[in-house]
Amino acid sequence: MTQTLKFSRVFHRVRWAPELGASQGSNSTPRSLADIPGPSMPAFLAELFCKGGLSRLHELQVQGAARFGPMWLARFGTLRTVYLASPALVEQLLRQEGPRPERCSFSSWAEHRRRHQRACGLLTAEGEEWQKLRSLLAPLLLRPQAAAGYAETLDKVVCDLVRRLRRQRGRGTGPPALVRDVAGEFYKFGLEGIAAVLLGSRLGCLEAEVPPDTETFIRAVGSVFVSTLLTMAMPSWLHRLVPGPWARLCRDWDQMFAFAQQLVERREAEVATMNQGNPEKNMPSGAHLTYFLFREKVSAQSILGNVTELLLAGVDTVSNTLSWALYELSRHPEVQRALHSEITATLGPGSCAHPQATVLSQLPLLKAVVKEVLRLYPVVPGNSRVPDKDIHVGDYIIPKNTLVSLCHYATSRDPAQFPEPNSFRPARWLGEGPAPHPFASLPFGFGKRSCMGRRLAELELQIALAQILTHFEVLPEPGAPPVRPMTRTVLVPERSINLQFVDR
Ligand code: HEM
Repeated sequence: MTQTLKFSRVFHRVRWAPELGASQGSNSTPRSLADIPGPSMPAFLAELFCKGGLSRLHELQVQGAARFGPMWLARFGTLRTVYLASPALVEQLLRQEGPRPERCSFSSWAEHRRRHQRACGLLTAEGEEWQKLRSLLAPLLLRPQAAAGYAETLDKVVCDLVRRLRRQRGRGTGPPALVRDVAGEFYKFGLEGIAAVLLGSRLGCLEAEVPPDTETFIRAVGSVFVSTLLTMAMPSWLHRLVPGPWARLCRDWDQMFAFAQQLVERREAEVATMNQGNPEKNMPSGAHLTYFLFREKVSAQSILGNVTELLLAGVDTVSNTLSWALYELSRHPEVQRALHSEITATLGPGSCAHPQATVLSQLPLLKAVVKEVLRLYPVVPGNSRVPDKDIHVGDYIIPKNTLVSLCHYATSRDPAQFPEPNSFRPARWLGEGPAPHPFASLPFGFGKRSCMGRRLAELELQIALAQILTHFEVLPEPGAPPVRPMTRTVLVPERSINLQFVDR
């Protein structure tokens, strides 16, 4: 979601400088941006546009750190971006945040809202507007009890997912239990889950016939992430000469807004019908977030902005993480066996009992698997902040209003923090070896601006993994080569992941 541009690479090689983060508080005079090493502008543009750099932004973080050390600077026209690729520096920056941290990575999304007279949701809002929305939404989504209140709703969605996986097996060539492109299935699951939470009603994305408008929404989400990278990489004057990416971004957002508007209006009408004759009883079935927002007298425009952005946030995040989790578990049968044992010991073998959110959140291996998957494949590989005052980071003063990019992918694959960083080893989160720096893997961000859907996403992943492994043994596609991640604003599989779901 919040991928900012990671430009790096280049002519001068610089020594790795681990001492940078440790020097705050030393007597040396802090240096200015001009002293920070980094690529020349032509080299960085070539990397970005001529060598497919936009889809490799996550790898460019690792290369940048290897060439320049944990902090470097890239220039693009008048825009200067400082990159931080060590946990200590990331912590130093985030601990100096003001009361309304600004991310600024969504400038093209915010620009769409401005030009099309749409209200911002929590993802794109800034300043006072953001603060108001955040304090409204946090008690409804982020409080552990609030998220746990959605467990029953999510559990029903997961039951439908299990049924759909069964139905999707054996289509096309390959073994009879093979499901092709599991991420495609999980996008539908992600949308169904978040819509159920937001609106308390079901869309039918997991039925045999998928409603065409839900497919359009999912396509728009994928497409907007591609045009986001392009529009943000292009200087504004270039948009007039090459209008395609901006036009596509607007088309995709308009489709998403139209879809959300239809859902909200349909839900409002249902609620109104059910309340006829009994205005006090205005809570028809289960808790849903839009109802609470209406009750708080949030404007219809703002509700629409938030529902649209939350629907988007719910689609690619949980689904890609679930795809990677099952991909890794299929390749590590010993971990899958241990996890299956942990789940059945708690829920009972072959159980369809609806597990309580609190029970699942206490299963140590289940939690460790989710953490390890998000370390290897952070959905948001690079985040950003724009400090509202001059701040001291490492040996340097970063002036107010500078775009600072946090290289989460690089820090979460740093061998100094995670031995054998490219291996899937959930045991590293269970006390095996020394603990990593707490800011080395930050999949949900940090602080006042951290992920609003974190509790919901964790719950959804835990329920889905527990139910899928209860019903199926998950095996890789025979002979399939490894799948690598690529950046599409969020981190996604480079090609389809196909997996076998064999009945237990
Ligand atoms: C595995 C799943 C997910 C991951 C890894 C993830 C990750 C993130 C990250 C890294 C951020 C930026 C945090 C920061 O700037 O410090 C973020 C923001 C956000 N996420 Fe998530 N997310 C996930 C699922 C969800 C879901 C399901 C929702 C929907 C309810 C959601 C809604 C949001 C919103 C609204 C924000 C903006 C918060 C703000 O600016 O105040 N996320 N997410």
